[in-house]
This record gives sequence, structure tokens and C-alpha cells, in this order.
Amino acid sequence: MKTIMTVLGARPQFVKAAAVSRAIAEEARLQEHIIHTGQHYDPSMSDVFFEEMEIPRPHHHLGVGGGSHGAMTGEQLRRIEDILLSEQPDWVMVYGDTNSTLAGALAAAKLHIPVAHVEAGLRSFNRRMPEEINRVLTDHLAELLFVPTQGAEQQLQREGIAPERIHLTGDVMLDAALHYRKRARPPAWFDALGMEPGGFLLCTIHRAENTDSPQRLADIFKGLAAAKLPILLPLHPRTRKTLERLQLKPAAQVHLVPPVGYLEMTWLEMNCQTVITDSGGVQKEAYFHGKPCLTLRDETEWTELVDLGVNTLTGADPERIAEYLNAPPCAPSCGDVYGDGRAARMIARILAES
Ligand code: UD1
Ligand code: UDP
Repeated sequence: MKTIMTVLGARPQFVKAAAVSRAIAEEARLQEHIIHTGQHYDPSMSDVFFEEMEIPRPHHHLGVGGGSHGAMTGEQLRRIEDILLSEQPDWVMVYGDTNSTLAGALAAAKLHIPVAHVEAGLRSFNRRMPEEINRVLTDHLAELLFVPTQGAEQQLQREGIAPERIHLTGDVMLDAALHYRKRARPPAWFDALGMEPGGFLLCTIHRAENTDSPQRLADIFKGLAAAKLPILLPLHPRTRKTLERLQLKPAAQVHLVPPVGYLEMTWLEMNCQTVITDSGGVQKEAYFHGKPCLTLRDETEWTELVDLGVNTLTGADPERIAEYLNAPPCAPSCGDVYGDGRAARMIARILAES
């Protein structure tokens, strides 16, 4: 029996881990222990996912959230190292590109514990993004790299990573979307807003490049004001704090609501007209649920969606946002660029046999 120590801490990692933890539980040769770094800590950013998605309770909760990049990553690194030294797992598994990802990978690699990286090989080629630093370093620390797309696989090969360490599994977020969509449900407050299914736009904004720039954030809200349909915007705490600080008031048709759980978010994605986002995960979920996506960034890691014509990059340009909202494209149908929904099972099998 091998022990996998999973290190996670931020919202998108709970979604990915929900799919993989279930597959590990079904694999007799593996057992999983979870470290939650505490990077995301509000109940609506953390607990709700563990409850709704039935993720196993973390064995360790570090309570390290907030603060600068160095302070957060450094404190997580120190605490994860202590746990790894005492538990000596066979593998450490990390997801995506957050500070918790890098802290887990670095702590393990220095102790010669092999690292498995889920969602490896993604690149924006923008080193000003903290995520780009985290994902490049994590990929080069990892022993096993699970990639969601062929493009990610080719990127890792270009960077000199040995082909036998790279496994093209598909995207575990597709596994999660397919598994949980049967349980999708509207938020309790949805009817009270007077919106109809199909009659609203769904928006999320949290990326540092947008929230740390008053000009970009103001430009985005200027662009959103052109929408003819109401916009529902579940607000990430980072963005809420910036809006409060800047005293920025969105236009009347933009409805700010607290972050929602995954089952509610899935329902909103399935029932909106168009998705507007700067999130990585939400860009793909728009495609999984057959919705066109406007991405409020200058580049994306998920370039295949742009190539397919279902994702449009507008950056924070108010005119391009308004132009898109006045003539949104037709809903796409979901193809197979992200695999067949069985990525998590493949990951568990490879780990058991490695
Ligand atoms: C992090 C990830 C980003 C990911 C995002 C998912 C890094 C560098 N960034 O960004 O890649 O896309 O999570 O949502 O790891 N806060 C709260 N309550 C919470 C969580 C955060 O109030 O539960 C506030 C804190 O003031 C914190 C700020 O949000 O300082 C930013 O949180 P942080 O985890 O540093 O970065 P995110 O923007 O969430
Ligand atoms: N999500 C959610 N509720 C929300 C906003 C997002 O459940 O209010 C989910 C979303 O469906 C996706 C994941 O959170 O599965 C994406 O996380 P986020 O956008 O925070 O991070 P990113 O993917 O950009 O790293």
C-alpha cells in the first residue's frame, strides 16, 4: 500500500482533488492523506467544497492564508516539511499553480520524496503572473507530470522533461464537471433576483493582474456596463476587498453576490447565456457546459479554446468587452480536447504502478 500525501489550499484545487481523491479511494493499492495549507479559508471558499463534493477531511490543516507571496509560501513550506519528515509518504501530489502547489512540491523535492503534478505543462509565457512561476518550478521539480492536453505534453518535451515522466491523462476538471453536473442546483437566492435561466451572463474576476490594477478593474466594469442582460458576479474575496478600497460601484445590471459552492456554480454555468471570466477553471467549464466564453485576460494557458473559436480574449479593454457583449457568438458544443472524463482514474492507476 502506497501513501499519497496531497497538498492543496485554494478553491480550484478542491475541485480537482474531488475527482482524484475519489479515484484514489477506489484504488486498493493507494491511500491518501491530505494537507490543507489554509490558503483559502472563508467557508464559502473552502468548507463548502469539502462538504458538497465529499472530499476526504484533511489530516492536517496549516492555517496559512493571506500575506505576501514570500511569507505565505515560506510558512507553508516550513510546516509541510515537518509533516513530510514525520509521515514519510511515498508520493506528494500537488495541483495546478498556486503558492500551495509550489510549497508542497519544493518541500517534498528537497526531502527526496517524489512529486506528482496534476495539470502540468500549462504556460501563459507571462512571467509577471505568480502562477507562471509556480507552475514552471513545480513541473521541473516533479517526477510524474500529468498533463491535460497534447499542447501541454509538447511544451514539457520542449523544456527537456523526459517523455517517460509525462502522462497525457485529460483534464480532471472535466471528470468533476461530468460527475457533479447531475447534482447541480440553483443558488437559494436565484429566484429572488428576478432572473430567468438563459437570461443572464455569469462573470468571475479575481486574477491579480486585474484586481491589483485600479485602471484595469475600472475598465472591465466599464465594459460590462454595455451588457443588455443582467450579469451575475459571485465575488472572490480578493476582488471584494479591492472594490471596497477603490469605492468602485459597478453598473446597476451587475449583481454582486457572495462566492457560491461548486454545485451552484455548475448550475449557473449551465444556465447562463455567456461566461465572462479571468479564471482558468471557469474558461474550461464554459466549454464543458456548452457556453461561449469571454476571457478578461491578454493571454490564456487554454489556447485550444481560442483556436476553436469558443473563447475570446478581450483583456481589460472596455470597447472590446462591449463589442463582444453586443454580439456574443453561438453556444459551442463540447468536444474531446480535454479527454474523456476518466483522467482521475488514469492518474490513480499510474501512481499505484509507479
Ligand atoms: C489564488 C491563486 C490563483 C488562483 C486563485 C483561485 C496564488 C499565487 N494565486 O489567488 O492562482 O487562481 O487562488 O481562486 O496562489 N482571501 C480571503 N478569504 C479567502 C481567501 C482569500 O479573504 O478565503 C483574500 C485575502 O485577503 C488574500 C487575498 O484574498 O490576501 C488573495 O488570496 P490568495 O490566496 O493570496 O490569492 P488568490 O487571489 O485567491
Ligand atoms: N467556483 C465556484 N464558485 C465560485 C467561483 C468559482 O465553485 O463562486 C469554481 C469554478 O466552478 C471552478 C473553480 O472554482 O471549478 C475555479 O476556481 P478559481 O476561478 O477561483 O481559480 P482558477 O481556476 O482561476 O485558478
